[in-house]
Amino acid sequence: MPSVQPPAALRSRERQLAPFEWYAKMRQEAPVHYDEQRKVWDVFGHEDVDRVLTDYELFTSDMVSTEAARFGDDEDHPFFRTMISADPPEHGRLRGFVADRFSPGMIREYRPRIEAVAAEFIDRVADANRIDIVDDFAYPLPVTVIAELLGIPSERRDQFKAWSDTLIARPIEDTKAAVKETQTHRKRAKQEMREYFSTLLDGRADSEDDDLVTLTATTDELTREEKTGFCTLLLLAGNVTTTNLITNAVWCFEEQGVTDAVRTGAVDRTQAIEEVLRYRSPVQALRRTTTDAVEIGGQRIDAGEVITAWIGSANRDSEIFDAAAEFRPERSPNPHIAFGKGIHYCLGASLARIEADIALKALLDQFEVLSLEESEKTPLKSLYGVKELPCRVESGH
Ligand code: HEM
Repeated sequence: MPSVQPPAALRSRERQLAPFEWYAKMRQEAPVHYDEQRKVWDVFGHEDVDRVLTDYELFTSDMVSTEAARFGDDEDHPFFRTMISADPPEHGRLRGFVADRFSPGMIREYRPRIEAVAAEFIDRVADANRIDIVDDFAYPLPVTVIAELLGIPSERRDQFKAWSDTLIARPIEDTKAAVKETQTHRKRAKQEMREYFSTLLDGRADSEDDDLVTLTATTDELTREEKTGFCTLLLLAGNVTTTNLITNAVWCFEEQGVTDAVRTGAVDRTQAIEEVLRYRSPVQALRRTTTDAVEIGGQRIDAGEVITAWIGSANRDSEIFDAAAEFRPERSPNPHIAFGKGIHYCLGASLARIEADIALKALLDQFEVLSLEESEKTPLKSLYGVKELPCRVESGH
């Protein structure tokens, strides 16, 4: 198999802390590249990534079957069968069941409630002169919102976070050995979540409430496993990702000196958030498996090969974006693919956008000064964000 090794210095921690330079090099030198160590094809360019995500027949999302086959695992692999890991026609059935609940119209109706939740978390730190954007605000906000939509108590959010960290923040250097090593933790997390939601679903079988757990508990359209998987997906998919979007936004605005302009409206907040999605995409990489031999970017890839589609790199491709390496908060149009593309386009995109908008307005209205302190940056995983973002703050009122 043809292979170009990426420059050694960028393979390790340096690459993980500064992935954007690595992407730029790879887009230029080896835009479709086989990584011998991970046994994975990496795809870096916007056009190729777009193709991988859009052509669901050639590039399957069915992780449950492909991962089990790849690692020779039994039925007890650490993946739930959910819409995100299903191909048509299963995918349409699973997504169709809940799509209405996440439409932009439905989510807009929920706006006042999200504003109230944001105000509550701001109140808790209103008199502080130092806060951690992640712990004090960007993590609890989305987890509280999705817990309300699901109809589950948010007090166990530390547990939800631990499950998310184990199940979705997958290391990029996921060699067979590394995956095996984390397999036990993942199986345990999956088992705990299954038990947690099974009990909840049983308790709601006769409920007439309007929450998503009740909707799931009372339908005949889903199997038991699908019901649990569905609740789990909603709890996991929208938390760390939205936390990262809010945190990455504060990080970008401060670093680029545009916080005041966003606060006063001189720079449009909604547009600036879109640029954060492009520039520091909360999800950097998506995985697919080829179902047939395919040629892409001049490389022939056999059937059954694993592909990492680097959306974080596609979003920096200068073929598509002028001054792609620059943060331009007024960029328009901004055809980033931070929420994916095609049939798996993020179901929660409207919710995430509205949450980020409300969160940033609340933060910037409250604090006239938000000055970032030194903090350790988190190495890149498939998700991109920071573990902590400590800030000195001064309240405007
Ligand atoms: C799918 C990103 C927030 C639920 C996706 C995909 C991406 C993504 C890239 C495509 C996955 C693929 O093609 O394999 C993000 C980002 C978010 C965010 C960057 C925040 C900034 C949310 C929220 C929810 C959510 C708040 C709410 C519940 C989902 C679901 C899918 C999905 C259910 C699977 C859709 C399908 O397979 O049809 N997301 N997401 N996401 N996201 Fe999000």
